Amino acid sequence: MPPTLGLLLAAAAAVLLLLLPPPPSAGAQETCWSGPAPRRGAWMSVASFGARGDGQTLNTGAFARAVARIARRRGARGGTLLYVPPGVWLTGPFNLTSHMTLFLARGAIVRATQDTSSWPLIDPLPSYGRGRELPGGRYMSLIHGHGLQDVFITGENGTIDGQGGVWWDMWKKRTLPFTRPHLLELMYSTDVVVSNLVFQDSPFWNIHPVYCSNVVIANLTVLAPHDSPNTDGIDLGKIQAATCASRTATSPPATT
Ligand SMILES: *[C@@H]1O[C@H](CO)[C@@H](O)[C@H](O)[C@H]1NC(C)=O
Ligand SMILES: *[C@@H]1O[C@H](CO)[C@@H](O)[C@H](O)[C@H]1NC(C)=O
Ligand SMILES: *[C@@H]1O[C@H](CO)[C@@H](O)[C@H](O)[C@H]1NC(C)=O
Repeated sequence: MPPTLGLLLAAAAAVLLLLLPPPPSAGAQETCWSGPAPRRGAWMSVASFGARGDGQTLNTGAFARAVARIARRRGARGGTLLYVPPGVWLTGPFNLTSHMTLFLARGAIVRATQDTSSWPLIDPLPSYGRGRELPGGRYMSLIHGHGLQDVFITGENGTIDGQGGVWWDMWKKRTLPFTRPHLLELMYSTDVVVSNLVFQDSPFWNIHPVYCSNVVIANLTVLAPHDSPNTDGIDLGKIQAATCASRTATSPPATT
């Protein structure tokens, strides 16, 4: 195990110790997913909602329209896979819905816009009562889920790129108005799998499942410069039955 990975896992374990609730009572669901993502009954490409993988077009609306379409199916016939083809898909934050798989093909990069003013604010977490870094609300994560069930975020080692440099600069210059966003946050959700992806240059923590149960996080590569502030790989908050098996971690943050 490279020392860097040890660091990351030690950090994750520390968070676990601090935040894990008491052991779940008998009967709580404890099975964890370990195989490939399930086959879904339907398949849609984000490109058919007007998105363009040219690295220039802002595709926030296309992602939102695709997820709204999937939500209207309400999990019919095994749910829906949203396919992100190879290309660079620039986007602002968007929500996920239940019974869906977000699938990044090999060579697909979902890239966060650097226009930080267009990021919606959301309420602080009840358990903090304020933003983690600053008072008031906090920026919504790039990929966000609230009250969901049966969600896979996976692919063929595609990349979720936060272009976090603009946020790190604001943090360093103390000009950040609110708490920085994560790349992926799921709140109050169950049966979640995050696997087979690269997370890179997150504005803040990379992956933050909170008030969730039955979460599997596996086969991820998390990349960030060693001096990027608080770009933790995985922070678990108030989770039941979580498995962390992050295979590779390169240059984890120096500070957490
Ligand atoms: C992780 O990768 C291994 C080896 O490729 C594979 O067997 C396993 O199913 C993967 N786990 C998940 C949750 O995708
Ligand atoms: C995401 O979903 C929440 C409800 O959980 C909603 O309040 C918010 O407006 C949505 N944000 C976007 C950007 O769609
Ligand atoms: C995924 O991509 C990362 C970054 O390029 C690489 O380090 C890792 O080995 C890749 N994993 C797989 C399973 O291809």
